[in-house]
Amino acid sequence: MIPSICKKSIEKALPNATRFVHSRLMSSSSFDSVGVVGLGLMGHGICQVAAASGKHNTVIAYETEQIFLDKGRSRIEGSIAKLLDREKISSEEADRILGSITYSTDSSDLASVDFLVEAVIENIDLKKELYQHLGTVCKPEAIFASNTSSLSITDMAEISGRPENFVGVHFFNPVQVMKLVEVIRTEHTSSDVFDKTFKWGEDIGKVAVKCGDTPGFIVNRLLVPSLMQAMLMVDRRDATIKDIDLSLQLGAGHPMGPLHLADYIGLDTCYFIVNGWTDNFPDESAFVMPACLKEKIDAGHLGRKTGKGFYEWDGDKRGDSIE
Ligand code: CAA
Repeated sequence: MIPSICKKSIEKALPNATRFVHSRLMSSSSFDSVGVVGLGLMGHGICQVAAASGKHNTVIAYETEQIFLDKGRSRIEGSIAKLLDREKISSEEADRILGSITYSTDSSDLASVDFLVEAVIENIDLKKELYQHLGTVCKPEAIFASNTSSLSITDMAEISGRPENFVGVHFFNPVQVMKLVEVIRTEHTSSDVFDKTFKWGEDIGKVAVKCGDTPGFIVNRLLVPSLMQAMLMVDRRDATIKDIDLSLQLGAGHPMGPLHLADYIGLDTCYFIVNGWTDNFPDESAFVMPACLKEKIDAGHLGRKTGKGFYEWDGDKRGDSIE
């Protein structure tokens, strides 16, 4: 039990913490059990936030291989340690969150989940195969939600065998900190499924917005082309990486400059998004592939996750720009 004086100071310190604390006092969500498939950069955060909300009896974290499951688990533990360190949660709360997640590499453990969030890599063939499998494993009334950044929700819904029970839920990195979730409906999504999902987004402490199944939804449709424009400036040598980032930070109040942010998101993710867009929408002038992005991908420099991108990285710590 967190003393109320402590609760107040936590609430004052950070709105997210308010949610961690309040969530335990509020009613439960429409979903008794939630499964998260894929524990990478986004999936581990979604899993953590769902567990932290205290709204579900069961939160199942699923990965196909033990090595990825362990990696996701240590990411969650690292994030919880950060929150604990900064006194945003109590040690009891940390224990409760960590103890409420069941880790599994057996997909039959997902059989009885009410709501399943998929956050695997942005490969449509892989996702289609996964949904075909999950469609046979999960109960028919379970809702499937993809956290894709840019792929068609409709394509996945149609392959899942339950198009009316299929939505998009798009979170932002770091999920533990970023307050938004975009909730996406297709022409097949039932109103009840959409409303329940929207409410779930709010239940786990996010601000939810609605969007149709359009490339990049709201945020990425605006954000990713602007990151590409920054990379085209690098291609043209208009300005240095450092100055481009500094300009957007200090001249436009962005928390991170665009090249720093691209490294932070992962250059592979940026590449997958833009590559899909340029293939599928060749006439859309906002969708362009900068040469420097392609070069970095070919060299295996994916930003923060590989220690090199537009910047040098030491874990989460950004170093010098690579001009
Ligand atoms: N878990 C828990 N807490 C975390 C965390 C994590 N994974 N990551 C950061 N935090 C906390 C830190 O502990 C810190 O807490 P305090 O305020 O108590 O110090 C706070 O968040 C801020 O972090 P930092 O001090 O390390 O650094 P910062 O002030 O520069 O903030 C940032 C970091 C929140 C990431 C900020 O720079 C930011 O908002 N950047 C932009 C991020 C963004 O645009 N994300 C969207 C990308 S697009 C996307 O994700 C969609 C897609 O499909 C590609």
